[in-house]
Amino acid sequence: MFLTNVYLLMVVLATFCDAANILYVIPFTSKSHYIYLRPIGLELAQRGHNVTVITAYKENNHSDTYHQVMVDKKEIWEVIGGERPNVFTMVGLSAEEFHDKILWGGGLAFTEVALNSTQVQDFLKNDHKFDLVISEHFFQEALYVLAHKYNAPLALVTTYGNSMRHNIITRNPLQLSTLVSEFLDVKEPTSFWGRMRNLYFAVYEFVWFKYWYLEKQEALVKKYIPGLKEPVPTLYDLEKDAALMLYNSHFSFDNAVAYGPNIVEIGGVHLSKSDAELPKDLKEVLDGAKYGVVYVNFGSNVRSSELPLEKKNAFLKVFKELKQIVIWKWEDEKLENKPDNLVIRKWFPQKEILSHPNVKVFISHGGLIGTQEAIFHGIPIIGIPIYADQFNNLLQAEEIGFGQMLLFKDITEDNLRKMLNNVLKDDKYGAKAKEVSARFKDRPMSALDTAMFWIEYVIRNKGAPYMKNSALKIDWIASNMLDVYASIVIVLLIVVYIFIRILNMLRSLEIVNVDRKKGKQKRN
Ligand SMILES: *[C@@H]1O[C@H](CO)[C@@H](O)[C@H](O)[C@H]1NC(C)=O
Repeated sequence: MFLTNVYLLMVVLATFCDAANILYVIPFTSKSHYIYLRPIGLELAQRGHNVTVITAYKENNHSDTYHQVMVDKKEIWEVIGGERPNVFTMVGLSAEEFHDKILWGGGLAFTEVALNSTQVQDFLKNDHKFDLVISEHFFQEALYVLAHKYNAPLALVTTYGNSMRHNIITRNPLQLSTLVSEFLDVKEPTSFWGRMRNLYFAVYEFVWFKYWYLEKQEALVKKYIPGLKEPVPTLYDLEKDAALMLYNSHFSFDNAVAYGPNIVEIGGVHLSKSDAELPKDLKEVLDGAKYGVVYVNFGSNVRSSELPLEKKNAFLKVFKELKQIVIWKWEDEKLENKPDNLVIRKWFPQKEILSHPNVKVFISHGGLIGTQEAIFHGIPIIGIPIYADQFNNLLQAEEIGFGQMLLFKDITEDNLRKMLNNVLKDDKYGAKAKEVSARFKDRPMSALDTAMFWIEYVIRNKGAPYMKNSALKIDWIASNMLDVYASIVIVLLIVVYIFIRILNMLRSLEIVNVDRKKGKQKRN
């Protein structure tokens, strides 16, 4: 009896993970990315792990085991060079242009800013031991080399859903017929041309990534992280060897697709735990809105105040006619012709506003983080996509039925009025939003607990190499069965060829026979 108890205790203890040393690399200076990624680091520290975070956003309220290495904070526009552009000019960029103009260059510049930051350089010079390196998967590949530096497994986490590149690299089934590359906007993804476009873009992106972009990231490794133990693995191999990938997606509103065991969906991880409340004055506004609230926010990178004049006026005119209170993130001090029912501020606590029962609709750009916040709280969306994955997110909202999409070029007074009245008056949008909200939350564990479980699992099981796709052990041709398919096709071709030869032979024999017969008949 005593022994069984001891044994049980040992089993229980073994399933816990001792406090580990974890390096969490999230230097990207975009607020929306940080909103999503922050709870993972804080929660790990809360659970007793010694967490070191390379970040641009300082936390003041955290447990003692949370350490911060600060990256010089630079806005994306300063880094890419030049002034902050009007983000609305990005409407209509193709996925290729978006990569060429923004992502590749921006990623390299950001990675360099992170690596060149004083605190980061000091940190790299000192000796540290880590049991796991977790890195954001967003154009900062050079930092993956830290997994090699500290001889620790690498876990990756996306803020933007699944990654076609990562699927290719780790031999996850590509499912190009249903899974669209994350930053590609195709109107009918499953149509013939939609699938063709998806294939084309996946190849385009992968080739540029592997043969052009990654070399530039490798150069950053050489420049800023010298003295690594040889042989230094390539960044491509480091990603291929990643122990874990956490995707910001969930099948309750995303496509239902297959992932290997070390790819885990944690969509909405920033919503699992709430550590903020509505400020009192805003709460009063929301509580007092008898007819409900229309909440307007185009995300942290887009400034509503940069809207072209006629589109801005269209919004103002339509808002003025509403019974509802309108809350709009507006970045300028003043707004001319501001209707009385409109509340503007430079920044709003979005999660907390969307959690208020009086919010009726969210007018948004369709960014994934905000879309998940709306889903979580069951708020229908009217979405105006500007760039990146926003079109895809809104297409999904439209298809499921809790949202409507309005293209930027179609923003007119008439269109806005029609769409807004439609979503406000027709209950089906709200009902669908509530339904999706319920299924989004219906999981065996919260998204944050899921992330914690798998992160600790990987630490406990020393990188859990057995979780990686078995296809990685064989070569690409074999893992895609191409040699087998090819030999079947060759055998079939040979059989057909022989068959045709025999047929031809028989036919010529027959012709000879017929000729003979004809000859005989003639002679008779
Ligand atoms: C925790 O991590 C820091 C690095 O940020 C390190 O200096 C410290 O020694 C670690 N503490 C433990 C107990 O390992």
